[in-house]
Amino acid sequence: MIGIGAGDPEQVTVQAVRALNRVDVFFVLDKGDVKRELVDLRQEILDRYVEGREYRVAVGRDPDRDRASGAYAEAVADWRRRRADVCAGLIAEHLADGETGAFLVWGDPALYDSTLAILDDLRERGALDAEVEVVPGISSVSALAARHGTVLNRVGRPVQITTGRRLAERWPDDADDVVVMLDARDAFAGLGGDVEIFWGAYLGMPDEILISGRLPDVAAQIAEARAEARRRKGWIMDTYLLRRSAPAAD
Ligand SMILES: C[S@@+](CC[C@H](N)C(=O)[O-])C[C@H]1O[C@@H](n2cnc3c(N)ncnc32)[C@H](O)[C@@H]1O
Repeated sequence: MIGIGAGDPEQVTVQAVRALNRVDVFFVLDKGDVKRELVDLRQEILDRYVEGREYRVAVGRDPDRDRASGAYAEAVADWRRRRADVCAGLIAEHLADGETGAFLVWGDPALYDSTLAILDDLRERGALDAEVEVVPGISSVSALAARHGTVLNRVGRPVQITTGRRLAERWPDDADDVVVMLDARDAFAGLGGDVEIFWGAYLGMPDEILISGRLPDVAAQIAEARAEARRRKGWIMDTYLLRRSAPAAD
């Protein structure tokens, strides 16, 4: 499992480049035309960094998740199972005994990514008998903080990483600094209080957009930028840090 950073080919680490150069087969889950750009970026990384080595690319169709289902956890579990089936098929068909296969994982494999869980699942089912090595990558969270030139936490304070879905339910307990990922619904828009936002879309990519400021001042601008980008490109990936002022005393 090789973390490839969140969109900027320059953020592929030296360790990842070394790992790329040991691989016989790269497994790619294609998400259809809309996210063609993300598959293309993986190919660009291979073109740039793999030197003088023959490799194969095995592409499988990433199954769609049932987004209409009200039962979120079940829908995700079912989707993971179907993804695991696709991966098992790719490995069985394309990887010979003794060869090295790799999944190129967006950002860092340790953050909101199911590939490791899928490999665990395959091992449990007896569909995979291999050593798994993980190469960390630069996550979109690191990229966000760097592009805004800020830190995620204040001195001695916690920072919480959560999803738009959870933030829409309520502000997390015991954290004044919150990083939000996977937000399909402008969860920041409904927040009150004295909050600053550091927002980034398509971080590290040519379409990168950065907006920051006091939430009441920039919320509408961010919502508009998201809607416009989604219309133009057909998909969006964005992450933001929310910083509530006056941390509660311990
Ligand atoms: C399934 S998670 C994968 C996270 C990834 N493993 C990482 O380390 O960044 C996808 C979410 O990551 C965030 N994300 C990934 N790449 C991004 C980018 N280039 N710009 C902004 N957000 C990004 C978005 O919140 C997106 O909804």
